[in-house]
Amino acid sequence: MSGVPEKDAQKTFYLETFGCQMNVHDSEKVVGTLIHEGYRQVQTVEEADLVLYNTCSIRDKAEQKVFNRLADYKKYKKQGKTFGVLGCVAQQEGEKIFERAPYVSLVAGSASYRNLPSMLVQIEAGNSRVTGLDDRETDACFETEFTARTNPHRGYITIIEGCDKFCAYCVVPYTRGKERSRTSESVLAEARQMADLGYTEIQLLGQNVNSYKDSTGDVTKRKTFAELLTAVGEVAGIKRVRFTTSHPRDFGRDIVDAIDASPTLCDHVHLPVQSGSTHILDAMQRLYTRDQYLERIAWMKGAKREISITTDVIVGFPGETESDFAETLSLLDEVGYDAVFAFKYSPRPNTPAITLEDAIPDEEKARRLDVLMQRQREIQITRYKKYIGTHCEVMVEARNEARSQWTGRTTHNKTLNFTAPQSSVPKVGSYAPVIVTGSFPNSLLGELVI
Ligand code: 5AD
Ligand code: SF4
Repeated sequence: MSGVPEKDAQKTFYLETFGCQMNVHDSEKVVGTLIHEGYRQVQTVEEADLVLYNTCSIRDKAEQKVFNRLADYKKYKKQGKTFGVLGCVAQQEGEKIFERAPYVSLVAGSASYRNLPSMLVQIEAGNSRVTGLDDRETDACFETEFTARTNPHRGYITIIEGCDKFCAYCVVPYTRGKERSRTSESVLAEARQMADLGYTEIQLLGQNVNSYKDSTGDVTKRKTFAELLTAVGEVAGIKRVRFTTSHPRDFGRDIVDAIDASPTLCDHVHLPVQSGSTHILDAMQRLYTRDQYLERIAWMKGAKREISITTDVIVGFPGETESDFAETLSLLDEVGYDAVFAFKYSPRPNTPAITLEDAIPDEEKARRLDVLMQRQREIQITRYKKYIGTHCEVMVEARNEARSQWTGRTTHNKTLNFTAPQSSVPKVGSYAPVIVTGSFPNSLLGELVI
C-alpha cells in the first residue's frame, strides 16, 4: 500500500467486530485508516500490538460478549499489548470502561473515528487514557478514502449515520449520535470509485436510510433517498443496489416506485415492524400504527416485481399482553415475510423503556420467541417452496467443497446453493442463471443453467 512509512511497518493490530452491518462497515474504515497510518493487520490477538474490539450494545448479551473478551486480557498481561474499545459500548459506557477494565487505553465511539489518527498518536506517546466520545454535536459522517473492504464484489456505502427517532427501547440514538447524512455527490463518487474497482453490488447503509437528507452544495442536484437509490443503480457497472435499514414512518411510496422503475434495485426490503400491536407500537414510540405499517406493505405487494420483505420483531416489551403478542403472530401471517429477526426485549441503559413497569418474565419472553419462530418457520417453508421450478440469477459468493456446491444470493437476498457441472465452473463474483430444484426454511437449492 502506498504512503505507508517503512519505519512503522511492524506495528500490528487485531480488530474484532460485533453487531450490525454499520459496525462491520465502520470496521472496514477503521482498518483502512490504521493501515494508512502504518499499521499491519493480523488475524490473532497473540500477534498484535494493538487489540481493538468494535462493540455492540443493542442487547445485554451483545454487551456481555465484549466484557468477556476483555477478560481474556489476563492471558496477555505480560506482553504489553494496548487494548481499545470502539463502537457502541465505548460510547455508552465511556470512561467507566477504564474503571471496569483498567488495562484498556482507548475508548472511542463511532462518531469520533475521524480523529483516529490523532488518537493513535496519543497512544503511541504512551497515553493510557485516550477517549473519543461524541457529545451529540457531531455534524459530519466518518468518510475516508482508505476503506479496506473485505469483499471485492459487493460493498457497503454509508449514506446516513446516527438516529433521531428515539424508540423507547433503543440505545442507537445515544450510541451513534444525531442523524447526519452525507451529500449525494460524495455517495455517488464513492459508488463510481467502487464500480471502477470492479464492484457490482452496493448496499447503502444507515440506521434509518429513509430519513436521508441531502446537503449537496448545488441545491438543484440534491436528491431524495429514492432518487439517490436510482442514481446509484445507474452508475455504470453496478448491477445490484440494496439498502438497510428502513423506518416505516419515513418509508415513502417513492421507494417502491424507484424499485419498479429500475431493474438494478434489488427486489428486497427490510422493514422492521417490532410489534403487530398498535398499543405496543405506541409504547415503543414507533410513530406508526399496525394499519399504517400494513399500508406500506400493500405498496410493496402492488409492485411490478415481487418484493421480498423481511423484518425485525421484539417480543416481551413491557406490558405486552397475550393478545398483543397474538397480533404480532397474525401480522406475520398477513405479511408473509421471507425472514424475521426476532429478539427478546432487553432493557438498555439510558433508554426510556428501562423505567417501564409490567416487565415480562424471561421465561415468558423465551416462550413467545419460540412460538413466533415456529410460526415463521412454517410461513417460510411455504414461501420458499414456491420458488421450485423458477429461474433465478444469483451472484456467486463461494464454493462449498464439502458439499460440492456453490453458494449464491438472489436479488431477493435469498441464499441459493447450487451445483454446476465441472465443465462450467462459475466464478465467484459473477452472476449465474440457476434453476431452483429444492427448498428449505432458510435457503434454496438449485442447478446452474447452461
Ligand atoms: N431489546 C431487544 N431487541 C432490540 N432491538 C433493538 N433494541 C432492542 C432491545 N433493547 C432489535 C430491534 C432492532 C434490531 C436491530 O434489534 O428489533 O430492529
Ligand atoms: Fe449494535 Fe445498534 Fe451499535 Fe449496530 S448501531 S452496533 S446494532 S448498538
